[in-house]
Amino acid sequence: MTEEWSTSGWDLHLEPGSGAGAGRRAGLEAALRAAIRGGRLAAGSRVPSTRALARDLGLARGTVSAAYDQLVAEGFLQARAGAGTRVAPLPAVTTAAAQASRPRPVPALRLVPGSPDVTTFPVAAWSRATRLALAAAPTSTFGYGDPRGLQELRTVLADYLARTRGVVADPERIVVTSGYAQGLALLAQVLHGAGAHQVAMEDPGLGFHRTIVGRAGLEVLPLPVDRAGACTDLLGGARLADVRAAVVTPAHQYPTGATLAPDRRRALLDWARTTGGLVIEDDYDGEFRYDRHPVGAVQGMGPDEVAYVGSVSKTIGPGVRLGWMVVPERWLEPVVSAKTYADHRTGTVDQLTLAHLIASHGYDRHVRVVRARYRRRRDLLVARLAGLVESGAVEVSGISAGLHAVVSLRAPGAREADVTRRAAELGLEITGLGEHRHVPGEGEPGIVVGFGTPSEPGYPRALDVLVRALGDQGGR
Ligand SMILES: Cc1ncc(COP(=O)(O)O)c(C=O)c1O
Repeated sequence: MTEEWSTSGWDLHLEPGSGAGAGRRAGLEAALRAAIRGGRLAAGSRVPSTRALARDLGLARGTVSAAYDQLVAEGFLQARAGAGTRVAPLPAVTTAAAQASRPRPVPALRLVPGSPDVTTFPVAAWSRATRLALAAAPTSTFGYGDPRGLQELRTVLADYLARTRGVVADPERIVVTSGYAQGLALLAQVLHGAGAHQVAMEDPGLGFHRTIVGRAGLEVLPLPVDRAGACTDLLGGARLADVRAAVVTPAHQYPTGATLAPDRRRALLDWARTTGGLVIEDDYDGEFRYDRHPVGAVQGMGPDEVAYVGSVSKTIGPGVRLGWMVVPERWLEPVVSAKTYADHRTGTVDQLTLAHLIASHGYDRHVRVVRARYRRRRDLLVARLAGLVESGAVEVSGISAGLHAVVSLRAPGAREADVTRRAAELGLEITGLGEHRHVPGEGEPGIVVGFGTPSEPGYPRALDVLVRALGDQGGR
């Protein structure tokens, strides 16, 4: 087998990750090992030159060369003078232990919503903030403390949320959580404990969040969404008469991307005031607005009616599991009690780090950098889809903010399932709008394109595949 390795790095879905030199080298090594073990790089095939692979993957040539040396040392590659470097024949792996130690296969390209580009995680700034914050922290920080979270973090968050999102935030009413997911779970539990049976949630919305609310014993009723955001004017109507809370994404509706219109905001707060209902505001990507100034949080107009919830999942990375709620006074005590019995409180070291990052403006700097990156990605997505938009095959919406857009399928007979299947055949994972609906599949067909992933080198390639898959719609 002497076949040439004629494809470039991202044709093989090599995504070495990012980070500093050693991290990127390790990522590339792991990706190459997985490709060899998985058979995508056949024994005997010649690997690309260090120059070509470095260019394709956006790495330093020395990084690629060091990774090759390492794999030669491990026996995955063979270097012969004059014959270049080739994939070595791999002995069959027989033992269960060896099977278990295999790296997981390198994922195919993905343009799915929900994840930021985790290769942008600010490793250096986060490590520095941890070191500095730990050095200055009183030892009491590491004991059981206030279940609402560290005073240091709640204080800087109050200022940050007021400044950037127009939130009326008193540190006393902030509860630090393990992400939005925990905030929603605690609020649902408290509502159920207070006798609520039904909660309205946007349709379409995130199924995972509907499940969280359902698991707290509440029935989830669909709140329709149109181009002006959630139809909050329907709250209080006959169908939703027994609803005690409404969960909404006003700044950038998930997934349609609509911004909640001013009259809908007023209707939402009027409903809450007249019925004693609770508004749960999910501000999951409020920092990423591209077309104008960020749209302020609804909470700023109704701090007694709205539980405002945010997290670092889109700005820094969902792996950190840090979020916050600003809770109306009357719900504070039961929420704090629920938090206490859920997990005492969220881990203090990460709280200290985040507090330091926000106070030193490192958080703002990071958000600015990634916002610019996502804006470029969004622009590239729009540019690549322009031809299909012109021909009337698709329509793109929800692009003024966030990390995803909706591509509506307009060709006669076009079906989400055909497009997602075609994309999968071409090595790209995408998600249909139908999956987000309360009754899956109902409604106009569309694709929710997340542009947070993949990492930079793979992104243009992922868009090529997307355009191909969309271009084939209706014609298969
Ligand atoms: C609609 C929506 N809300 C909230 C979040 C953040 O969730 P968490 O903070 O639990 O990671 C996400 C993340 O993908 C989301 O898509």
